[in-house]
Amino acid sequence: MKTGHTIKLESSRQCPVSVGEGLIERLEKHFDFSGYSGLVLITDTTVHRLYGQGVLARLRTMGKKVSLFTLPTGERAKSLSTVERGYNFLLANRVDRKGLICALGGGVVGDTAGFIAASYLRGIDYLQLPTTLLAQVDSSLGGKVGVNFEGKKNMVGSFYQPAAIIADVALLQSLPPAEMRHGLAEVIKYAIAMDEGLYRILEQKQNKDFSTTELKEIVMRCCRLKSAIVEIDETERTGKRAILNFGHTVGHALEAASSFKGSHGEAVAVGMVAAAGISQQLGMLAPDSVQGIRSLLLKFELPTSCPGVSPDALINAIRFDKKTMLGQTRWVLVKGIGKGVTNQLVEEAVVTKVLKELCR
Ligand SMILES: NC(=O)c1ccc[n+]([C@@H]2O[C@H](COP(=O)([O-])OP(=O)(O)OC[C@H]3O[C@@H](n4cnc5c(N)ncnc54)[C@H](O)[C@@H]3O)[C@@H](O)[C@H]2O)c1
Repeated sequence: MKTGHTIKLESSRQCPVSVGEGLIERLEKHFDFSGYSGLVLITDTTVHRLYGQGVLARLRTMGKKVSLFTLPTGERAKSLSTVERGYNFLLANRVDRKGLICALGGGVVGDTAGFIAASYLRGIDYLQLPTTLLAQVDSSLGGKVGVNFEGKKNMVGSFYQPAAIIADVALLQSLPPAEMRHGLAEVIKYAIAMDEGLYRILEQKQNKDFSTTELKEIVMRCCRLKSAIVEIDETERTGKRAILNFGHTVGHALEAASSFKGSHGEAVAVGMVAAAGISQQLGMLAPDSVQGIRSLLLKFELPTSCPGVSPDALINAIRFDKKTMLGQTRWVLVKGIGKGVTNQLVEEAVVTKVLKELCR
């Protein structure tokens, strides 16, 4: 059955989030396109090959001018030069303030198209049509848009909420297993830091594959969790949004350490084991919970250690993390499954001990 559920994210702008199966085939049921002067589909070459023609055909039924701007696939496209090409494209196609950008793709497309939308003519509307698990549970939601700059991730950007998010889990069927794992790392992050019920669902799964029904439930659940946080700390000022960074302190450090060859999701997985280990050292988390977290990650083929990486390199990278405030790292730890706590200061000796074990 092709179903959809909608939640409303109450941020600086109300943003309906629709999650379901087959939604992309009847976009007009989930969003009112009538007030727009023209529609611009922004996607990457891979997603365009898979779904571009279908979505273009659907958009053309709205009776507006529809144009297509395609980015190369991959993180390198998330750059100011792509943004500049995007402005030129919009200008050449005479897109005015009533134009609508439809961002069809993973986080790279969503972040870049969202930033183009945020800045072109001081802001035009955009729609998030996320096609990766990571984008459906995380990046499309919350309004963080931007690009990389001078080799630094997400250095230039803004908070700019989409007009709506339409997450069609049917699109995840074509996702390569590595990309699925990448998104699952973020799902597990929500479970450990915020939702014990979700954790138990994942824990009880007998295999690593998900049905469409399971995906709908998981994506919806994660969207609810993230919406609740964005609603209380939209622009990351009160520190509450930091809970979404569970596992990311060591995760980012690993990505900065050149000897780690894994993906972002794999780095976050190891980072979650580190945060759980630190929580255990501080007496906040039972050893069997840490072991449970390891087993869960392994079941979904995510790593739980990083042998060969230098713990000193990690400590250095943590010191220079952009989320470090006044020279002090604020850790997100857990006081039990589903009970994340932010703003935790941890002695360096504790961090070093845990990292040494992970790097062995
Ligand atoms: N804005 C935020 O809050 C936020 C949060 C987390 C991550 N991010 C950003 O998200 C980006 C990563 O996003 P991502 O993991 O979605 O990567 P991505 O956008 O690069 O997509 C991964 C790969 O999957 C392909 N793909 C996308 N959808 C597909 C589908 N349905 N079937 C087959 N292939 C498909 C893409 O072409 C690409 O090759 C990073 O730049 C990261 O910084 C942003």
